[in-house]
Amino acid sequence: MQHEKVLVLDFGGQYNQLIARRVRDLKVYCDLKPCDMTVEEIKAYAPIGIIFTGGPNSVYDAASPHVDGAIFDLGIPVLGICYGCQLIAYTLGGKVEHAATSEYGRREFAFCKESSLSAGIPAKSVCWMSHTDHVTEVPAGFEVLASTDTCPVTVFGSEKRRIYGIQFHPEVVHSEYGNRMLENFLYRVCGAHGDWTMKNYVTEQVGRIREKVGSKKVLCAMSGGVDSAVAATLIHRAVGDSLTCVFVDHGLHRKDEPEEVMSVFRDGLGMNLIKADAQDLFLEKLAGVSDPEKKRKIIGAQFIEVFEKEAKKIGAVDFLVQGTIYPDVIESGKGKSAVIKSHHNVGGLPSVVDFKEIIEPLRDLFKDEVRRLGTELGLPDSVVWRQPCPGPALAIRIMGEVTREKLETLREADFIFRDEIAKAGLDKQIWQYFAVITDSRTVGVQGDFRTYENVIALRAVTSVDAMTADWARIPYDVLEKVSVRITNEVPHANRVVYDITSKPPATIEWE
Ligand code: XMP
Repeated sequence: MQHEKVLVLDFGGQYNQLIARRVRDLKVYCDLKPCDMTVEEIKAYAPIGIIFTGGPNSVYDAASPHVDGAIFDLGIPVLGICYGCQLIAYTLGGKVEHAATSEYGRREFAFCKESSLSAGIPAKSVCWMSHTDHVTEVPAGFEVLASTDTCPVTVFGSEKRRIYGIQFHPEVVHSEYGNRMLENFLYRVCGAHGDWTMKNYVTEQVGRIREKVGSKKVLCAMSGGVDSAVAATLIHRAVGDSLTCVFVDHGLHRKDEPEEVMSVFRDGLGMNLIKADAQDLFLEKLAGVSDPEKKRKIIGAQFIEVFEKEAKKIGAVDFLVQGTIYPDVIESGKGKSAVIKSHHNVGGLPSVVDFKEIIEPLRDLFKDEVRRLGTELGLPDSVVWRQPCPGPALAIRIMGEVTREKLETLREADFIFRDEIAKAGLDKQIWQYFAVITDSRTVGVQGDFRTYENVIALRAVTSVDAMTADWARIPYDVLEKVSVRITNEVPHANRVVYDITSKPPATIEWE
C-alpha cells in the first residue's frame, strides 16, 4: 500500500520533529527532509502537501537557506511556519522586515478573513510566537488572514494557489488551535484521507517482513527496552520461529526485569528467546573498578562478548535486527557533538555477528509511534511505557565500585520509588525516575541504635528528548512516602535525598 505523504522541509528550527509528529498524529505519513531538496526530487517524492518549518535565520542573509520559486508552481499545497512563512512571502515578492522587538510566547491573534485554515476555529485565540523578523507585505494575489496587535501578518495565504504562511508555531501545545490549523491544512487543503494508523502499519510491515525474510534466520538482541521489544514482536508476528532473540542477563537490571522479559516474550508470546546468564562474569569484571567511563567500557565489551558467544551457537544468520528509530535516521549525518559519556548500545554488534543484512523495522517511526505500535501488537503497558534505561543499567547508578550488596540495596530502593510514582499516577508524566546509591555513608538512628549506612538519592526528570531535562516537581507527600519506605524496608540505607539539578549543568544519570 502506498501511503499519502506530506513532505516537511527542515529549515533548522527547534520544533521540526514536533511538526512531523503532529502531522503523523493526524494520521498522515510525513518525512522530515533537508531543505535543500531539489524541485525534481520533490516531484519524485510526490507529496500531497509540503510544510516549511521554522529556522533560526533571516531570509535576507545570503547564507540562509532559500527555496527554488518553482516549488510553488508544482500545484502542491504549501504551508510555511515561522521562518517558512517569511520565506514564502520573500520568495513570492512580499516583504519581510526586522521587527523593532522580538515576540516570544503567548499572543492573542484574530482572524480577519475566513479560509480553509480557519475552519472550526474561533475568531480570536491564543498562539505561541518566537520570532524577530515578520512579514509586512504579502505577495501579489495573497491575503492577510489573521493578525495580532504587534504582528500585522500573523497568517496569510492564497486559497486559489493553496499556499499559506503562519508566523506562530501551530505545532506547540500553547497554540490553542494550532493542531486544528494543521488538521485543516492536511484535510481541507491537501485533501488527505488519513491512512497512517498503527493498524495499517502492522498489516503492511508484517507482509513486507514476511516477503523479505521468508524462512531465513533472524537474530535480535533483546534489551528489555521499548525499541528492541517492539521490533522483535513485530518480526515475530511476521516470521514466528525464524526469529531468535538473545537477552543478556548481566545482573545489573532493575528488580524483576529479567523475569518480566522472559515471561512476556518467551512464555506469553512464545518467542524463541535465549537468556544468557552472565551475572557472575559481569560482577567479576567490574570488581574493584570505580571510574564511570571504565565501568561503561567494561560492560559494553562484555556485552558484546557474551552476545557473540550466543550468536556463534546459533551460527550464521541472514538478518540482524536493529532498533533504529526515525529520529536516529534524521540525526545521522548531522555534526558530531562532544562525547559526554560513552553510550553503550548494540551498535557494536554487527562486527561480531555472522549475518548478511541488517533489518530495521522501526526506522520510519517516532518514539510515540513505537509505543503505539507496541500497544497495537498487544504488549503490556509495563513494556510499552518502560522508561529509558541506560545500557549499563544500575552499574552507573551505583557510585564507585559495583558490588552484590549495593546492587541489592539499590534494586529495592529503586523498586519502591517506581512503585510510589506509579501509585501516585505520575509514571507517564515523568521522563525518567530512579534511585541512585551514593558512595557516602551517614550516621542514623534506627530503633535506638546508631547506624552508619548508605545515602540513597532519588532522581526524577521531565524531558522531551533527554538532551535537556528539568527535575520533576514531585509532591512532597509522595517523596515522604518513598523516603519512609526506603529507610524502613531497605537494608543498608538510612538516608534519602532528592536531586534538584537540571540538565545542563548536570546530566540525567549520575555517572
Ligand atoms: P545523560 O545521563 O547523558 O542521559 O543525561 C541521557 C539519556 O541517555 C540515557 N543513557 C544511556 N543510554 N546507554 C544508553 O543506551 C548508555 O550508556 C546511557 N547513558 C545514559 C539516560 O538514561 C538518559 O535517558
